[in-house]
Amino acid sequence: MTFRRIEQAPDNVTALVRVDFNVPMQDGAITDDTRLRAALPTIKALQAKGCKVALLAHFDRPKGKVVPEMSLKPVVEPLAKLLGSPVAFADDCVGDAAKAAIDALPAGGVILLENTRFHAGEEKNDPELAKQMAALGQIYVNDAFSAAHRAHASTEGIAHILPAYAGKQMERELDALDSALGNPKRPVLGIVGGAKVSTKLDLLRNLIGKLDRLAIGGGMANTFLFAQGVEIGGSLAEKDMADTARQIIAAAKGKCELLLPLDAVVAKEVKPHADARMCGLDDIQADEKILDVGEKTIRRLREAMKHSHTLIWNGPLGVFEMPPFDQGTVIAAQDAAELAKAGKLIAVAGGGDTVAALNHAGVAGDFSFVSTAGGAFLEWMEGKTLPGVAALH
Ligand code: 3PG
Repeated sequence: MTFRRIEQAPDNVTALVRVDFNVPMQDGAITDDTRLRAALPTIKALQAKGCKVALLAHFDRPKGKVVPEMSLKPVVEPLAKLLGSPVAFADDCVGDAAKAAIDALPAGGVILLENTRFHAGEEKNDPELAKQMAALGQIYVNDAFSAAHRAHASTEGIAHILPAYAGKQMERELDALDSALGNPKRPVLGIVGGAKVSTKLDLLRNLIGKLDRLAIGGGMANTFLFAQGVEIGGSLAEKDMADTARQIIAAAKGKCELLLPLDAVVAKEVKPHADARMCGLDDIQADEKILDVGEKTIRRLREAMKHSHTLIWNGPLGVFEMPPFDQGTVIAAQDAAELAKAGKLIAVAGGGDTVAALNHAGVAGDFSFVSTAGGAFLEWMEGKTLPGVAALH
């Protein structure tokens, strides 16, 4: 792939750097800083060139309005700490105040600009907003592979206005995913889980054409189980997606072996250390919720990994943030890591929650590659062109 890389960029200019700081946050504190760390090599490389670094990022989905709870401000301190140098902040990603704050930076200075999605034009890829952003710098660097599936003003539009470069993390993601997924060593096993159920159900349709086996876990598995007539009690599920789930099951037949949960860990309350029990799928009570996969499911997953050469994993299998519902994800992650370390499995994982889950399991470093991306990771896996990547060509 041919991109302009940071090394080719001019020195001593203001670089507008699109990063992905859409980090998991609880009560204003970042619970996983992988995406902040991922941005450091690019920021440091630009600092070393004497560039001012103005960071453009979104957080959550404020839908074009200023939502104070979705401010990027809580990111400033943790970023400054990781970077080892001060990080300024501007209340808007365009306009005079942002311009003045950038002007006030010393060479090599870093500033984080407020949530790009506070402007309605961001998601509309409004050329006027892109122009206002572009007015703040001389070059554009996209280091947000994980937001590159969005054709937004800060990920796509601006790349057509300023000289555009791929950041270090962008390069790493593209290089690694290309070698891991461009021509995977078969059989390929996919694990897809997590809570973004409806968006992922749509993606699953495409995945069954590419993978040899697909294990489904997390909230979306409940929808599949419900669609098959399993009594899922009070479990999280999108019951209106049952038809879609049945279509996917039918479409997978003969192409891709679908591995749905065989058993479950259930509880009446979704809270840490809630009273939980493991049970068969025929024994879930009306007041119980499925919160993790059970032992049988984990054992079968382990066997599937042993019979695969490549594993692509997106999304946790249970409510991994709350013990004891982290166990399914933790054990499966450890199994994959062990096989990867032994050179028996190319284990590739992606997705904000997935990264946090692998970190929680203590095995992220043992995977062959861990992407920082969620939706972009899956779209790439489907072979879709990501607009943010295409704009860099
Ligand atoms: C992500 O977290 O996957 C990216 O930051 C994109 O976020 P989005 O799904 O809200 O566009």
